[in-house]
Amino acid sequence: MANRKHIALVGFMGAGKSTVARMLSERHNLELVDIDERIETKEQLKIGEIFEEYGEQHFRELETDVLRQALESDKPSVIACGGGIVTKPENMVLLERYAVVVYLSVSVDCALARIDDVNSRPLLAAAGSTEVVFALMQSRMALYETAADVAVTSTKRTPEEVVEVVERRLKDAGYEGLFNDE
Ligand code: S3P
Repeated sequence: MANRKHIALVGFMGAGKSTVARMLSERHNLELVDIDERIETKEQLKIGEIFEEYGEQHFRELETDVLRQALESDKPSVIACGGGIVTKPENMVLLERYAVVVYLSVSVDCALARIDDVNSRPLLAAAGSTEVVFALMQSRMALYETAADVAVTSTKRTPEEVVEVVERRLKDAGYEGLFNDE
């Protein structure tokens, strides 16, 4: 616990990780790290362009570099992880060591309804059908659960409601010390 200064949000695309991370960071005076945004800024390319030009493997390497940098920072932060972060064992080790992990679960229908631009998610664009997206989600479910210290569903909840439940669960689990509240 001593090293775990950060709150990391994991979960499938469309679970609301970026929105909830931003709200938590603002409410508790914590730095915000959006892994995908950091990759895009660093590379000066959109996630879709990185997949297209260099492939998923290269994207995963960039993702691990950015994750490691965020987690090794002394400044406590809320980290919005990309949905595939749990697929690399190295990332799981980093998360376990440095972060309290919140798993935002979501139903496939709700996730797809929230994502208006599928092209910004190359894996969704490639999937092509709800069944394939569901299979991808299923293949990751156990990994999200393994990574999680607390789990909260975002299905049929507004971001405000999700934030409130996340805060309550973190407090109930004894992690209120992570909040940098005045
Ligand atoms: C991915 C999720 C995306 C992004 C990339 C790959 C995945 O992030 O990192 O397109 O493998 O699930 P979001 O979960 O923020 O959409």
